[in-house]
Amino acid sequence: MKFFIDTANIEEIRSANELGILAGVTTNPSLVAKEGVSFHDRLREITSEVSVGSVSAEVMSEDAEGMIKEGLELAAIAPNITIKVPMTLEGLKAVKAFSDKGIKTNVTLIFNPNQALLAARAGATYVSPFLGRLDDIGHNGMELIATIADIFDRHGIETEIIAASIRHPLHVTDAALHGAHIATVPYNVLSQLVKHPLTDQGIERFIADWNKANQ
Ligand code: E4P
Repeated sequence: MKFFIDTANIEEIRSANELGILAGVTTNPSLVAKEGVSFHDRLREITSEVSVGSVSAEVMSEDAEGMIKEGLELAAIAPNITIKVPMTLEGLKAVKAFSDKGIKTNVTLIFNPNQALLAARAGATYVSPFLGRLDDIGHNGMELIATIADIFDRHGIETEIIAASIRHPLHVTDAALHGAHIATVPYNVLSQLVKHPLTDQGIERFIADWNKANQ
């Protein structure tokens, strides 16, 4: 499983990129709004920091024509922009149009397996099932990842599954075990993945022993 970072914050993206584990970035309108910057300017900054991996940028129109127009403008910003399209009938039409033009897409707000299958058949590069938001309403987000992975596997579908709406480290481990190709992780969760109290204790003890022996 690969790691994307789920943020529009450039400092967080830089810090994650320095770790050498970053395969891409996902943004969404709420994340961009939090930054209080121009969307296109921020995408330019992000794609100059992450110039190889996929950078998802979401369209805001609700009709296919508008989505396609917006998506083409976003795609012109950098070659690694992936157009994030909501899971609707109009969204599927737009995904097909982008796919015909060789533009990558990430179909977002996936909450059931049929939505994922339809998105894949329309030509989506990625589908984003939202784990956390399903868990929030008492459904099993991880079961959705496993079902989509099973369906894609049985039918030889190459669309990649991005485990999205990740809330804590266990989501990351479970997403990897249940067949997600990618986890898009907020920076705070990414930082938590590194930590273990025994690692900290171990480092302290090694330093103390080393200092004692070298006094
Ligand atoms: C994914 O691409 C979305 O940006 C994101 O994971 C949504 O997460 P949230 O449910 O924490 O808003």
